[in-house]
Amino acid sequence: MRTIELEPGLVRLVDQRRLPLEFAVLECRDYRQVAEAIRTLAVRGAPAIGVAAAAGLALAARAAADRPAPEFWAALEAAARELKATRPTAVNLFWAVDRAMGVARERQAQGAVPAEVAEALYQHAVRLAEEDVAVNRRMAEIGQELIRDGDGVLTHCNTGSLATVDWGTALGVIRAAHERGKRIHLYIDETRPVLQGARLTAWEALRYGIPATLITDNMAGHFMRLGKIQICFVGADRIAANGDTANKIGTYTVAVLAREHGIPFYVVAPTSTVDLSIPSGDHIPIEERNPEEVTHIAGVRVAPEGIRVANPAFDVTPARYITGIITEKGIIYPPFEVGLRRALAGGDG
Ligand code: MRU
Repeated sequence: MRTIELEPGLVRLVDQRRLPLEFAVLECRDYRQVAEAIRTLAVRGAPAIGVAAAAGLALAARAAADRPAPEFWAALEAAARELKATRPTAVNLFWAVDRAMGVARERQAQGAVPAEVAEALYQHAVRLAEEDVAVNRRMAEIGQELIRDGDGVLTHCNTGSLATVDWGTALGVIRAAHERGKRIHLYIDETRPVLQGARLTAWEALRYGIPATLITDNMAGHFMRLGKIQICFVGADRIAANGDTANKIGTYTVAVLAREHGIPFYVVAPTSTVDLSIPSGDHIPIEERNPEEVTHIAGVRVAPEGIRVANPAFDVTPARYITGIITEKGIIYPPFEVGLRRALAGGDG
């Protein structure tokens, strides 16, 4: 199945908290369940949380569709606010909710009654999900050209089907190269503290038959020095106008190591991850998560009680460490500001 599936009044999500031990599907009939799923990482990955939020908004609209218009709109605005408050870093979430609200307001301006607005929001969420898959396929086609037969490829976090509706961004590129018959070897950073690499990317790599080795995050430099890694691909949660990129904590370390070893470092992200409203990565809000993600592993305490803990979920890789940004509009090379603006204006990178 796809990571996110929609039916009128129902959103199905692969519950990523339980993988790889169990494949379970979460059924959400209320937008609050979707908000909770985003907050608790049942659904995660920038593109996936954007689509989930749009689907959640469609649920909220359906639930309020019989109410008088002022009440309907108040309920919809409240749901939009609540969905946007779930996680702060991935701009896809805000992009998706704002875009959906734009569709709703447009239908209102055309004289639509609440039930018609609710239907438009559902149809919009379905389209957004389809669009996500198409965009990922396009990025995969473009990006796989960069991978040569025999390459060792490093990735961080999970950017596969699970992080999107289907196919994936950085992992989608790697999967496309594998499906083209290129003999690659994937090195997967485990991605502490939530272990998206160990739990999710490793699970996906096995499913697709991509030859892969799981390593802990602090092994990346070792394998680069040994010449095992020729190229790195990561995803993004928000790309500032100058190309600075927020992604899973530890991405910056990989980028600096790659530079030291002369290894190309690519970001793979749809244009919906680009935030031209902020000039640089200094303006990207970084989510701070529960300290227990650091003090505990799989529910078992590994650090002494009373120790102070920092748990930023993302870091910012300065644009100067990024070789190129692969979008559905093409590969953007430095200076990123020019290429990103052109790509968002509708042209090629
Ligand atoms: O905290 P997460 O698991 O939502 O973080 C996910 C990442 O950092 C991904 O690399 C990013 O969202 C891109 S997913 C295609």
